[in-house]
Amino acid sequence: MLAKARTSALDAFRAAVDDAIGRHPIVRRNAYTEWFATGVASDDELRRFTVQFSVFSHLFIEAQLRKCINARDIESYRAGKEILLNELGVTFAPSGSVEGGTFRFRAGHFEWLAQFAESIGLQWNDIGKREHGSPETLAFCDALVEWYGSHDESTAAGASYAIEHWAAAGFWKQLILGLRAVKTSQRPDLPLGFWTWHDALEDQHAAHTGDELTAAFEKPNFSPARFIRAGQMTLDAVETFWRGLDATRPRSAL
Ligand SMILES: [Fe+2]
Repeated sequence: MLAKARTSALDAFRAAVDDAIGRHPIVRRNAYTEWFATGVASDDELRRFTVQFSVFSHLFIEAQLRKCINARDIESYRAGKEILLNELGVTFAPSGSVEGGTFRFRAGHFEWLAQFAESIGLQWNDIGKREHGSPETLAFCDALVEWYGSHDESTAAGASYAIEHWAAAGFWKQLILGLRAVKTSQRPDLPLGFWTWHDALEDQHAAHTGDELTAAFEKPNFSPARFIRAGQMTLDAVETFWRGLDATRPRSAL
C-alpha cells in the first residue's frame, strides 16, 4: 500500500513536470531561433545576437560556480564541477569525466565564442560582460543564479532539469542551420566549433536517459512544488531572453 501510494505520488509529479516544463511555450517553440535558422541574419544582427548570447554564456559560469558551492552532497558537487571545469577548459578524459583531463586555455568555451565573435568583427571587450547585456538577457542571467544556483536542493534540481530540457529541444540545431547558411553564402571562415560542440553534447545527454526525475524525487526532504516552480521560473527566464532578441530583430517589410 505504501509503495503504491509512493508510485502514484511519483506519477503525479511526472505529470506535473511534463505540464510545466515539457509543455512550456519556449520548449515547444522558439520564434527567434526559427527565424535565425533560415540564414537571413544580417551582419549587424549576427553581431547583436552574438553579444547577447556571449553575456548569457559567460555569466552562466557564475551560476554554475554557485551551484557547486551550494551542492548538498559530494556527488552533486562533483557533477557541478564537471560542467564548470569543462566550461573553463578542462577536456573530458576517455572516462567522460574531467578527472584526468587536460586543461587548455583554448579549450575554454568562452575562448571559442570569442574567436567566433572576432571573426564577425567583435573584439574581446565587446562581448561576455554584464555591461553588454540587454535587460532581458540580464534578467535571464540573474534568474540562473537565483534558481539554477539555489541553495535549496529541490529548487536547483528543478532549474537544472528545465535547462536540460530546453537545451535538448533543438535550439542549438536551429542556430547551427542559420550559421551554416551564413558560412556558405558569405563567410567561409566562420568557426562553428562553439555551436557544434554544444549541440553534440546535447545529443549525448539525450542518449543516456538516466531517470533524473526519480532520483530527484527520492532525495530526502524533496519538494515537488519547489522543483516545478523553479523549472517554470527558469523557462520563463529563458523565454524572456529569446523574446528580447526576437522583439528587436530586423523585420523585412511585407
Ligand atoms: Fe559551454
